[in-house]
Amino acid sequence: MKYLNSPSLGRALDRIEIVRQSLRWSSDLDRNGITKLLRQVGDLREEILMLSGIERYEQKLISITSHTEKSSAQRRQALMNRKFSFEGVFGENEKLLETLETVEKAAKTDMPVLIEGESGVGKELLSRVVHANSQRADLPFVSVNCGAISPNLLESELFGHVRGAFTGSVKDRKGKFEAADNGTIFLDEIGELPHESQVKMLRVLENGEIQRVGSDDLIRVNTRIVAATNRNLREMMKQGKFREDLYYRLSVISVTLPPLRERKDELDILTDYFCKEASEKMNCEPVRLSPRLRNFLLNYSYPGNIRELRNIIYRLVCLAEHSADLKHLPDAIRPEDADKPVEANEEKPLETIRKNAGILAQKSFLEGRLREAKGNVSALAKHLEMNRSYLSVLLSKNGIKPSEFRMQA
Ligand SMILES: Nc1ncnc2c1ncn2[C@@H]1O[C@H](COP(=O)(O)OP(=O)(O)OP(=O)(O)O)[C@@H](O)[C@H]1O
Ligand SMILES: [Mg+2]
Repeated sequence: MKYLNSPSLGRALDRIEIVRQSLRWSSDLDRNGITKLLRQVGDLREEILMLSGIERYEQKLISITSHTEKSSAQRRQALMNRKFSFEGVFGENEKLLETLETVEKAAKTDMPVLIEGESGVGKELLSRVVHANSQRADLPFVSVNCGAISPNLLESELFGHVRGAFTGSVKDRKGKFEAADNGTIFLDEIGELPHESQVKMLRVLENGEIQRVGSDDLIRVNTRIVAATNRNLREMMKQGKFREDLYYRLSVISVTLPPLRERKDELDILTDYFCKEASEKMNCEPVRLSPRLRNFLLNYSYPGNIRELRNIIYRLVCLAEHSADLKHLPDAIRPEDADKPVEANEEKPLETIRKNAGILAQKSFLEGRLREAKGNVSALAKHLEMNRSYLSVLLSKNGIKPSEFRMQA
């Protein structure tokens, strides 16, 4: 394979420099010369893409091998012990821990980080985590929402402008990149960046240079880039809406924040955190959540992710006096029987509810699999990679008789 002979980023960079110098100093490039340079640039591009792939593969391997022996509780504790700075809470969710461990390693380098995830999952919070755990922590952190600024103002916002660059530009103005010099710039909603600005962004990433709008002068900046998006950039790349070269430059380290519905094990810890935060901010007594409300919160799907959970909790704390119940939920998600008084036997402690749900889920799982195995316990044990006698005990504990499944078959 080609990249096995040339897997060095250093060598690729040297060759880029040679191409750059050839371009800079050649005053009369003919068609042949241009074709030759284009071919070299094409080869280099391919090589860099390969290298970026290898890097990603290696990162993945490191992250898999480094935590296979540790439990998630130990991994979480290890982050705490290393004084990992995080403005919020996190539990022991495997996917989230993997993201945080990658971010911790990436933070110490100056490499660009791309944060992907649905709306409200905590991308902005994570961008601050990258900055807070980097050597730039005491230097500026500047956030720009690429989707919120009109396309014709975006470049001046990012790169600044000189006096007279456009109507109304009465004096020189620094852009966000210069404001974030030596610090970090957070480019939120990078998927909204217009095509023309994507080219200019590429130049900052490649050369660390910007050009104020209306000026030919190049200004060097040392700004670390963290970008975020809730759009599928790979898909946009395929459709020609996002430049491939920019994508690979931005995503040297890319992490994805899982949606809340895939980290329900974090729900209790987040709920308690927001309850405390809300009562402190509103200067009111902590509110107790009724077991059926907690049960609702556990089963809800949260299309708006952590932001939605936070808003719900703030509302509950604001509306409920001491004890919050279903009736305090927003109209759009409140169950129909929310006003029904709580019956004594409904007020089961959350642990009991969870335990019962677990037992039911286990029973229906075993029944389903046994049906597929036509009541053959040995075959099922093999399929589930379980000890046969343990499986028999489990079946009888759940009141499941394999013979009945043989008859059905
Ligand atoms: N782990 C966490 N602990 C505490 N609060 C959190 C956590 N994650 C997110 N939040 C809070 O949830 C809210 C949404 O987070 P954030 O704004 O970072 O999401 P986002 O992914 O950038 O959303 P959007 O895509 O809509 O811009 C914020 O108030 C943030 O402080
Ligand atoms: Mg955001």
